[in-house]
Amino acid sequence: MIQKKILTAGQLFIILAFAGALIGPPPAGAQTTAIIPDQSYDASMPFIADSSVIIDGDIQDDEYGQIYENVPTGITVAWEYNDDNMTIGLEAAVTGWLAIGFGTGMEDSNILMVGVADSTVYCYDIIGLAGFDHADDVDEGGVDNIVSCAGTESGGTTTVELVFSFTPVDALDPIPEVDTIAPFFVGLNEDSDDKTRIHDVYDHNLDLYYKPSTINMETEMLLSAPDHVHQMENFSIEATIQDSNSDPVPGIEISIGYKTVFGNFLMTDGITDAQGKLTVEIFFENVLGPITLIAISQELLTVVDSTNTAYLSTEAELDITVDGEVEEEEPSYVITSRWALVGGFWLIGIIIWSTFGYNFYVIIQIFRHRNDPLPGEGSTEVSS
Ligand code: HEM
Repeated sequence: MIQKKILTAGQLFIILAFAGALIGPPPAGAQTTAIIPDQSYDASMPFIADSSVIIDGDIQDDEYGQIYENVPTGITVAWEYNDDNMTIGLEAAVTGWLAIGFGTGMEDSNILMVGVADSTVYCYDIIGLAGFDHADDVDEGGVDNIVSCAGTESGGTTTVELVFSFTPVDALDPIPEVDTIAPFFVGLNEDSDDKTRIHDVYDHNLDLYYKPSTINMETEMLLSAPDHVHQMENFSIEATIQDSNSDPVPGIEISIGYKTVFGNFLMTDGITDAQGKLTVEIFFENVLGPITLIAISQELLTVVDSTNTAYLSTEAELDITVDGEVEEEEPSYVITSRWALVGGFWLIGIIIWSTFGYNFYVIIQIFRHRNDPLPGEGSTEVSS
């Protein structure tokens, strides 16, 4: 039994929008790049090159690439596809038939109608006809492309799994195109296995995204910066991202900062260039002493042909020391002016004190000679 992991159209749209935001230029050497459609879709079917699904009428949680639940009908669809075939599991709490169709409505659509009647499973490859009719492909000049089919009906729940092959090519059946969106619909009859009995419920005009395969690619980051830097002084940090083949990965967003006791303090970010390199300039104002720089890359998702590559996030650390601010050497004119001021100050001081000293000396002299006769008044020698 499936434990339902459901993605609503809204959630899928958010995931797509997020993936779209992460998409950057393709890795060097990539041939063609398709971008994940930016329109929303209701469901997606993943490309899985080597399917590991076992067709036994039991859908396991992680057996299929993806599981989709159609709420209006209550049908759960587990599915995946590759170049050779489509593997589909249908499950619903009914005892009648279940069906999935590829197209906008019954007419001209490829329909797979399945169920279990009297403990016998049936899987029909049918084509929708005009007037809400349908017929087996083989009766309309097509081919029965269902190569494997198994199912169970227990406790009022029907589960059927099948493999739908793309060969031989049947003109009545469309072949999924990787990285495109196509319409589909589902329907069921609650308790009849009569394939001519009309559905009790159906849901149509649904969008199915044929998702490329996903490869998770490990990335590695090389981080370099000077061992010692000074406060208030710009320095360069260089971060380079390469994949597990040692090829540079452009377009990855990297956040750079340093570790603190409260966690990482991220200071700046940027995107790697064609060489997988990001260079940023930063400076520290209040940080002093040994610190650990940290760079964290975000995940990047790119779609190349049928491969959807997720470059996984990585991080790198580097220990450096932040020394105190470097005292700036003053320009020579400042030093000269300062000495000139000091010299001038002393000169003026000397002049003032000299003048004061001379005046003091003169005053002393005046006092000392105050009883001296004035010139011309000297003592007269009287001769007898
Ligand atoms: C078993 C014989 C079937 C009969 C007699 C039948 C009959 C009808 C009729 C009368 C309508 C139009 C009225 C309405 O909307 O209810 C209709 C619509 C529809 N049926 Fe069926 N149907 C049959 C099988 C299927 C199957 C196997 C599917 C696959 C899921 C399907 C899918 C749809 C869808 C999607 C619509 C609406 C779109 C459209 O007009 O084509 N039907 N069907």
